[in-house]
Amino acid sequence: MIAEKQDLVTTANQKLDQFAQVVNGDQATRPVTDQETLKVGVDLGTSSIVMVVLDHDDNVLYGNFEYDHAVRDGLVVNFMDSVRILMRLKQQAEEILGVSLATASGAIPPGTGEGSAKIVANVIESAGFTCSAVVDEPTAAAKFLHLENGTVVDIGGGTTGISIFKDDQLTYVTDEATGGSHMTMVLAGHNHWDMAQAEAFKRDTTKELEVFATIRPVVEKMAAITRAATQGEPQEPVIVVGGAINFKDFIKTFSQALGAPASKPDFPQFVTPIGIAMYD
Ligand SMILES: Nc1ncnc2c1ncn2[C@@H]1O[C@H](COP(=O)(O)OP(=O)(O)OP(=O)(O)O)[C@@H](O)[C@H]1O
Ligand SMILES: [Mg+2]
Repeated sequence: MIAEKQDLVTTANQKLDQFAQVVNGDQATRPVTDQETLKVGVDLGTSSIVMVVLDHDDNVLYGNFEYDHAVRDGLVVNFMDSVRILMRLKQQAEEILGVSLATASGAIPPGTGEGSAKIVANVIESAGFTCSAVVDEPTAAAKFLHLENGTVVDIGGGTTGISIFKDDQLTYVTDEATGGSHMTMVLAGHNHWDMAQAEAFKRDTTKELEVFATIRPVVEKMAAITRAATQGEPQEPVIVVGGAINFKDFIKTFSQALGAPASKPDFPQFVTPIGIAMYD
């Protein structure tokens, strides 16, 4: 089981590292011809909108993102802002790739219903794509990770989402309101800062030890949520993704509090977006 978990993460890391090298940059991983069919994924998140471009064989070509506040708790709250941001991302990617992007897929948090899938599809279409699919976020993450059996814990801006997979099927899912913004709130409260100040401090790697000491209880709470959701016996491997886990000591603390081994890929905020693109 340990070997399998390591293999999944190692394989995922190759693509994630490649993606991280081109994201928001001024060139793609290779030249593209206009005969190729490209695959595009759009992740409308609470803290950023991420766009991924893959080739026909799911190799990374390019990606870009912008921070936003157009989505809350996984739901689009500002339609026009989302569309404007996505149009900019599309245009920029098309300039760099030298081809136009015709189709894209999107995703929604599980259990948010037909209505939110429609809104995501509308955002994608309004930005000038044909929307090819709207999948649920953990299923996209599991597809990218090649995870058939196990648990995906996605810790984004607003929530901790726990999804259990058996034989390639999503069998259980829950979403609890504790995410990266709660870490920011704890830092802000502790130091009497506003949220913007606390957010910048949280991401300052030179302050990581101090930051982590303050936010450790939030990480333990995320693990307790995961433990409760999995009746104390999480289906292994447990793979943790999402932007909020970008701390060196995160996995150690999380695994201890969970009482089971967990692992994290490099650049965990890009796992779901790349998975979404695989559905286009
Ligand atoms: N380098 C970093 N160090 C610590 N936290 C980070 C870092 N980068 C991003 N975050 C945090 O990650 C969170 C966003 O994660 P992610 O990009 O996975 O969320 P999202 O998909 O936009 O949101 P959601 O999934 O909740 O809709 C934010 O709380 C942000 O502060
Ligand atoms: Mg997310």
